[in-house]
Amino acid sequence: MDEAAEELERLAGEIAKHDKLYYQKDAPRISDADYDALRKRNDDIEARYPELVREDSPSRRVGAEPAEGFGKVVHSVPMLSLGNAFDDDDVTDFWNRIVKFLNLKESDELAVTAEPKIDGLSAALRYEKGKFVQGATRGDGREGENVTENIRTIADIPKTLKGKNIPDVVEVRGEVYMSHDDFAKLNERQREAGKQVFANPRNAAAGSLRQLDAKVTESRPLRFFAYTWGEMSDMPADTQSGMIETFEKWGFTVNPLFQRSTSIEELIAFYHDVEERRSELGYDIDGVVYKVDRLDWQQRLGFVSRSPRWAIAHKFPAEQATTVLEKIEIQVGRTGAMTPVARLTPVTVGGVVVSNATLHNADEIERLGVRPGDTVVVQRAGDVIPQIVRVVEDRPRGKKKFEFPDKCPECGSHAVREINPKTGKLDAVMRCTGGLVCPAQAVERLRHFVSRNAFDIEGLGEKQIAAFYEDGLIAKPDDIFTLEERDAKSLKKLKDREGWGATSVKKLFEAIDQRREVELDRFIFALGIRHVGETNARLLARSYGTLENFEEQMLAAADPESEARADLLSIDGVGEVLAEAITDFFAEKHNRDVIEGLKKAGVKAVPLEAQQTDSPIAGKTVVFTGSLERMTRSEAKARAEQMGAKVSGSVSAKTDLVVAGPGAGSKIAKARELGIEVIDEDQWMEMASN
Ligand code: IVH
Repeated sequence: MDEAAEELERLAGEIAKHDKLYYQKDAPRISDADYDALRKRNDDIEARYPELVREDSPSRRVGAEPAEGFGKVVHSVPMLSLGNAFDDDDVTDFWNRIVKFLNLKESDELAVTAEPKIDGLSAALRYEKGKFVQGATRGDGREGENVTENIRTIADIPKTLKGKNIPDVVEVRGEVYMSHDDFAKLNERQREAGKQVFANPRNAAAGSLRQLDAKVTESRPLRFFAYTWGEMSDMPADTQSGMIETFEKWGFTVNPLFQRSTSIEELIAFYHDVEERRSELGYDIDGVVYKVDRLDWQQRLGFVSRSPRWAIAHKFPAEQATTVLEKIEIQVGRTGAMTPVARLTPVTVGGVVVSNATLHNADEIERLGVRPGDTVVVQRAGDVIPQIVRVVEDRPRGKKKFEFPDKCPECGSHAVREINPKTGKLDAVMRCTGGLVCPAQAVERLRHFVSRNAFDIEGLGEKQIAAFYEDGLIAKPDDIFTLEERDAKSLKKLKDREGWGATSVKKLFEAIDQRREVELDRFIFALGIRHVGETNARLLARSYGTLENFEEQMLAAADPESEARADLLSIDGVGEVLAEAITDFFAEKHNRDVIEGLKKAGVKAVPLEAQQTDSPIAGKTVVFTGSLERMTRSEAKARAEQMGAKVSGSVSAKTDLVVAGPGAGSKIAKARELGIEVIDEDQWMEMASN
C-alpha cells in the first residue's frame, strides 16, 4: 500500500515533467509509446487502489467533461479590469495622482512594478490546503465559468503548491495564453484536419480553454503566467513583488520581465524596451502594466468604479505594417451596398497575415488619397478588420486614381448613391440597383419575396430558396410559379432531391398555387423596393387600387414635373426620398420584367378588400390639417381610408374635403381659394362615426 502511494507520487511528478517538456518546451524527451506506458502504469495502480488517487493525478488532468455547458463560479473577490494609459503623459499623471492621494513626502520612496500585459484570457485558480480545487474564467468579473477540469490539463499550472506554510485558501490569478509557435502548429493541425483555424493566439487560447470536453483542452498547448490574486486566507508577502516571488516558489510561472522601479523615467524606459522586444517574446502582449508595490498603499488607494487606482495598463499603439496596395476590388453585399476592398501584398501585422483591408466607401478612398500601386500603412487592432491608415508618400506612387465604378461588378446594373432619408444627406454608400438580377442580392431578395408579410409561401423558407437558387431552379420570383410546370418536364424531379419526397413536393406546389392571388399590398411589399416596408406598401396599394394603375402611374412619375409625381408626393407619408426610390425602381427594365414575369406565370394582385362605398367621402380625396384633438392623425387617416377616401398631404384642385383642426394655416386659405369644402373636427367626428 505504501509502496503504491509512493509509486503514484513518482508517476505524477514524472508525467507532469514530460507534459511540460512536450506542451511547453515542444521538446519531448521520451517517445509517445513510453509516455503512454507511464500513464497506463498510473491508471493500473489507481484502478487497484482507488483511495490513493491523488488530487494532482495525471488521470484527473484529462478529467470528466462538465456535463452541460459550464457551471458558474461567483468570484469571492471580483475580477476587475485596468484603466489605460496611452502615452508618457498619462503615466506621469498616474504617478502624480498616487503621490497626491497618499500625500507622499519627498523622503517617501514610491516603488511601482512593471510587467508585460499578456494578450490572453484571465483565469482564477483556487487552492485549498495547497491542492488545486477550482479554476474559473473572468466572465463578467463577478461571475465566471467553472473550467476546473480544463485548467487541470494545463501543464504550466501546479496541481499542488510547492513549499511550506502555504495558506489554507489561495487564489492565484493570471493569464492563460498560447505562444506564437504553438499557435502556428495548432492552426496547421486544424487546417489539415479541416477544422476551425483561429485568427490569433488569444482566440485560440480562449477557444481552447472554453471547451466542454477537457480532452480537447488537453490537446491544446496552453500556458499560464501568474500575476495577481483573489481570496487569500493569509498574505505571504506585503508587496506586489513579494507576492510574485512567492507565486514562483509555489511552482507558478511568472513573467521573466517583471521588474520594480522607483521613478517615472524607469517605467517609461521599461515600456519602450518591452515595446522594442515585443516581436521576440514569442507571445502576444498589448502593453505593460504598472502596479504600486506596497500592498498597504494599494489598500489605501482602492478602486474607482471597476479599476484599481493603484494600477494602470500602458497600451502599445495599434499594430501597423507597411505593404503595397495591389488593387481595389468592389464587393457587393446582400443589400446591394458596394464596398471597396484593398487587396494587399500579404504582410504580417501583429502576428497575423493580412492580405485584405476595408476601404469602407468612395469617400474613404478620397480622404486617404490612395491609388492602386501605392505603399500603405495597414493597421490591425484586436479583432477588427484591418484598415488602411495612410499612404506612404515618399515611395513610388500608383499611377492612376481609382475610379469608383458606377456599375455593379456582379450584374452590370447601374449604381447609385442614395439620399439618407434620416439625414437628408447623400449616403456614403454606393448601391447596386440590380436587385433581383444581381447574383449578390438575388437570394436575399427572393427570401424577402417569400417572407411572411410578402408572399408567405408555406414550405418555401430561406433554406429552400437558397438551395433552389444554388441549383438554378429559382433565380427570379416568377420561377417560383413555374416550378411545377418545369418539374413535370424535368428528368431530375424535385421529389428525388435530398430532404424532399412526393408528399412534401405536392404540398409545396399546393402552397404555391394558393399564392397565385395575393393582396396588392403584399405584392408591392414583396418587390423589395427600397424604403417600401409594409406600411408604405399598404399606403400605395390603397392609393393606387390596382397593380396596373400603380405601374402606369409610377412610370409616369419618373418625370419630376409630371402630374403623376405631384400625386405621388401628395400622399400623406410619401416624401421625396420614397418617391425617388419607387420611380427609380420602375425605371429599371429588369424590375418591370419581374412584374411582367409574375403576371405571365398567372400571379394576380388583388385590390385591398373593398372599402365602404356608401360613405359620404367614398372615392373622394381628403386632406387633414392642423391638430386633431379627439383622434390621432394616423387614426383619422385610417378611418378615412376605410371609408373609401384617399388621404392626401396637400391641398390641390383634386382635393374634395379639408378637415381642419386648431392651428391649421395656409391649407385652409388655399382650400377656400379653390372653393373646397372645409369642415372642423366635430363635423369630421360625426361623419366618421356614422
Ligand atoms: S493585473 C485589478 N497584470 O488585463 C486588475 N492584468 O485590463 C488586475 N492582463 O483582465 C489585473 N496581463 O486579463 C494584470 N500583467 C498583468 C496582465 C493583466 C494581462 C489582463 C487581465 C485583465 C485585463 C485588465
